[in-house]
Amino acid sequence: MIAIDGPAASGKSSTARAVAERLGFAHLDSGALYRGVTLVAIRHAVPGPLDPARVLREAETRGLQLQFDGRSYAVYLGGASADEAIRSPEVTARVSAVSAVPEIREWVTERLRRLARAGQSLVVDGRDIGTVVFPEAVLKIFLTASPRTRAGRRITQRGQAVDQALLDREAVDLAARDQADSARAVAPLRQAPDAIPLDGTDLSFEDQVARISALARERLGLD
Ligand code: DC
Repeated sequence: MIAIDGPAASGKSSTARAVAERLGFAHLDSGALYRGVTLVAIRHAVPGPLDPARVLREAETRGLQLQFDGRSYAVYLGGASADEAIRSPEVTARVSAVSAVPEIREWVTERLRRLARAGQSLVVDGRDIGTVVFPEAVLKIFLTASPRTRAGRRITQRGQAVDQALLDREAVDLAARDQADSARAVAPLRQAPDAIPLDGTDLSFEDQVARISALARERLGLD
């Protein structure tokens, strides 16, 4: 088990996926499941204040699931891939608030642990993987990058041209989400005491993946 935590758009998921591929592990993006629950809340829950029990009931009955595609776990809802829907601006705007609710965190954490008990070796990315969900992980990385770098990556990922105004706006949105994720009472975004910090601002993607993979091989005794 390898845990990669860090703030929004630090490159956790793409890095975790590539590290998993190098090691022959499966990749599990825990944020995707929080996004799936948020999608259920938007699509199927009653309007008004969030009712976590209702949202989780809807998630169960409508078949919100993580399904393995041979490399990564992907979010499915009602038998169809929800991969695109969970990345929508509406979901992104609400996911921090939904993921701050203790009952929802408990539900997601239990699902993640259940998957891990199935026995596959995993690279898991998120905010509280090394601190709360899998404190026994053999390697914990806390991945960061400067706000500008992260904002630029997010814009490019969306296929937009990077300009100053957009960079500023995106950096403000990311900072707000990081603040919400770090300030919540339950399982806030925090570096585990035994995590290795890695600042990817000046690293190429390949270097980042190579460094983490090398650390993992060392810890796992694969060299
Ligand atoms: O990694 P992401 O941006 O897809 O995550 C979406 C949200 O889910 C993020 O704002 C915080 C929350 N999250 C969390 O609280 N704990 C995790 N382990 C993963 C994500």
